[in-house]
Amino acid sequence: MKSIIVNAYGGPEVLKLKNTEKPTPKSNEVLIKIQATSVTRASTMMRTGTPYFGRLFTGISKPKVKTPGTDLAGIVEAIGAEVTNFQVGEKVIAATDLKCGAYAEYICMSENEMIVHQPENISAEEATGIVDGGSTAIAFLTEQVTIKAGDKVLINGASGSIGSAAIQLAKEFGAEVTAVCSGKNSSLVKELGADQVLDYTKNELANNSEQFDVIFDTVGKLSFRKAKKNLSVKGVYLTPVMEFPTLMHMLFINPFSKKKLKFAATGLRKQDQRMRDLLKITDLLANNKLKTVIDKVYTLEQIQDAHKYVDAGHKRGNVIIKVA
Ligand SMILES: NC(=O)c1ccc[n+]([C@@H]2O[C@H](COP(=O)([O-])OP(=O)(O)OC[C@H]3O[C@@H](n4cnc5c(N)ncnc54)[C@H](OP(=O)(O)O)[C@@H]3O)[C@@H](O)[C@H]2O)c1
Repeated sequence: MKSIIVNAYGGPEVLKLKNTEKPTPKSNEVLIKIQATSVTRASTMMRTGTPYFGRLFTGISKPKVKTPGTDLAGIVEAIGAEVTNFQVGEKVIAATDLKCGAYAEYICMSENEMIVHQPENISAEEATGIVDGGSTAIAFLTEQVTIKAGDKVLINGASGSIGSAAIQLAKEFGAEVTAVCSGKNSSLVKELGADQVLDYTKNELANNSEQFDVIFDTVGKLSFRKAKKNLSVKGVYLTPVMEFPTLMHMLFINPFSKKKLKFAATGLRKQDQRMRDLLKITDLLANNKLKTVIDKVYTLEQIQDAHKYVDAGHKRGNVIIKVA
């Protein structure tokens, strides 16, 4: 089968297309024929081995796992003798987490890992595309804060993977949503439900005195320092990006401040919490309450181009690799 193999940390050129042996499922495993996978910001960070503390999980001097890729949608092609939750021919969505392996034609996973049934109304591309941004956004908006109807929520980086899901989820929870993006993405975020749009290239937030209950800086570009003036008295600034000032703030300023900064590494939570989020996301997709924004679709052969594109930091929603 075709697989992407990496033997070192580095730029997109470390991703090599190779022929590898098709796996055979053990008694508790399903063999999934992968239809589509995604190029997430996490996968590009795992490729470079940065930030360096991430290497504690991915390998100190070189990647521990040879085939990257953490999210996939596919069809169950075979099952082990003890498998009870899945049947041959069923469409599934899966997150492989640090085990990776999604940049390939086939993968074997235990039926007890992060696998859910794919709703019939969406494509494999839409299914894999929502896993990272959707799961991260729902975790932040339901665990770090609890959005109530009428809350004023600002989403920075609204045109990205997390941002495009966060707009839709915040609207679903009844919030009034202000999206911050560049002018070229204004129509996209309005289509996703944003009530108001601010252009970050024109510093429209800096010149705005409105107060928000939650500011979700999905791309970590705003900083608590700049966001603070727009937070209501007990407002919360959420970020999925850990930087040194963020850590210092959480340790030394948060305990004394009514306005809080919250960070979470949602992918490192327990499997039952992540599974609950994936099931919620899948349910929203099935009920047409959430849609996956797809920017570009590449093939496995074009994986280096796909990574270069994601590295640039300007994707709209999600970048997909169509495998089958
Ligand atoms: N902590 C966690 O659990 C967790 C989980 C998943 C991801 N993450 C991290 O979260 C971050 C965001 O991930 P993502 O996949 O959503 O990002 P992404 O899709 O790559 O974000 C790209 C989007 O950000 C916009 N953008 C770029 N610079 C901006 C700025 N200065 N202000 C506002 N928008 C800007 C771009 O719009 P323009 O083209 O208009 O610039 C583009 O649409 C990444 O750093 C990722 O590693 C953390």
